Amino acid sequence: MAILVTGGTGYIGSHTVVDLLNHDYDVVIVDNFVNSKPEVLNRITRITGKTPRFYEVDVCDEAKLEEVFKKENITDIIHFAGLKSVAESVAKPQLYIDNNIGSSKVLLRLMTKYHVHNIVFSSSATVYGVPDHVPLKESDKVGGCTNPYGQTKLDIEYLLKDYAKEHNDANIAILRYFNPIGAHSSGLIGEDPQGIPNNLMPYITQVAVGKRDHLNVYGSDYNTPDGTGVRDYIHVVDLARGHLFALRKLESKPGLVIYNLGTGKGTSVLDLVRAFEKANDIKINYVICDRRPGDIDENYADCHKAWEEMGFKTEFDIVDACRDSWHWQKNNPNGYGD
Ligand code: NAD
Ligand code: UFG
Repeated sequence: MAILVTGGTGYIGSHTVVDLLNHDYDVVIVDNFVNSKPEVLNRITRITGKTPRFYEVDVCDEAKLEEVFKKENITDIIHFAGLKSVAESVAKPQLYIDNNIGSSKVLLRLMTKYHVHNIVFSSSATVYGVPDHVPLKESDKVGGCTNPYGQTKLDIEYLLKDYAKEHNDANIAILRYFNPIGAHSSGLIGEDPQGIPNNLMPYITQVAVGKRDHLNVYGSDYNTPDGTGVRDYIHVVDLARGHLFALRKLESKPGLVIYNLGTGKGTSVLDLVRAFEKANDIKINYVICDRRPGDIDENYADCHKAWEEMGFKTEFDIVDACRDSWHWQKNNPNGYGD
């Protein structure tokens, strides 16, 4: 009765594994460390007092992954493993197709072969493309993805839908994450981007810790109240908890279900900078510069479905997330590389 967590040493995966272990789930992690570090495993043990079983395996390597299925009694899968850099996906679309779609196909084949019925998949709000309204509902149109990364998420959603049509006993939760930020309150695990961060929060914390001189605010002429981009920032601990709600939902054998995981609140770039400054009493220098290609004005979630069907609601706000992101960064100025 084990939960297989692919990508379990990554940012969202590690927080989810902590929550799973704290709720006495039996956890098996598979990761190839393409974007994470072995040290994460020690940190998970320090927080929970438990050590999940771990296999250093590429999910695309079907033969090696099958060994894990043979050895472990897997009943459920949470599939986080994937590459997630928008910019890299534009430069190397085939890598994203091979890794993200390829790993999902391998998992589905092994699910069939080993009679595993339940899977939770990490999708993204990026599947909504360029929204013509907010808040976004699960039933809103998808498509028009602005980059190959987003397209892989949408393609995997279609793959899962086809799989569900062919397998009546499959239970699939597609979770569309909005923007995860924050870190575990222990300061032992958090987001550890390699090189220059693409995302807003890790960039802010690197300015705060003195690794970067200032934040570049990408555009102040968006159609938003202060002109900067608006997003729905969800604390990663809340997001992680959402996966336990999804696993419980799958126990009721719902077939394929889709949920947004967000807070339902829009926050602009400058709102987040100000929240960080207030939460941590640190000044963040910033410069307004050109828009980043592909960015949209705003997106935030309609969260009613996750509440009504799973009873899931977030507990933390952006101030909590700013405090926890800083706690993690301050204690680990070089991430897990220290
Ligand atoms: P992450 O990069 O921190 O974690 C992904 C993990 O998967 C890493 O540990 C990496 O080493 C591993 N991995 C990648 N390809 C693999 C493979 N072929 N075999 C084995 N392991 C592999 O990313 P994250 O932020 O934790 O995101 C987790 C998932 O959620 C991803 O699928 C991502 O696309 C999705 N998502 C993330 C965000 C976000 O803003 N962080 C938003 C929406 C969706
Ligand atoms: N931003 C800056 N400066 C930075 C980084 C970001 O001003 O250095 C701005 C962006 O222009 C945007 C906002 O901060 O307005 C958030 O940007 P992020 O890069 O943190 O997040 P995005 O919403 O652009 O993208 C994220 C994930 C994608 C995912 C998408 C889907 O990174 O993988 O959410 O919602 F596809």
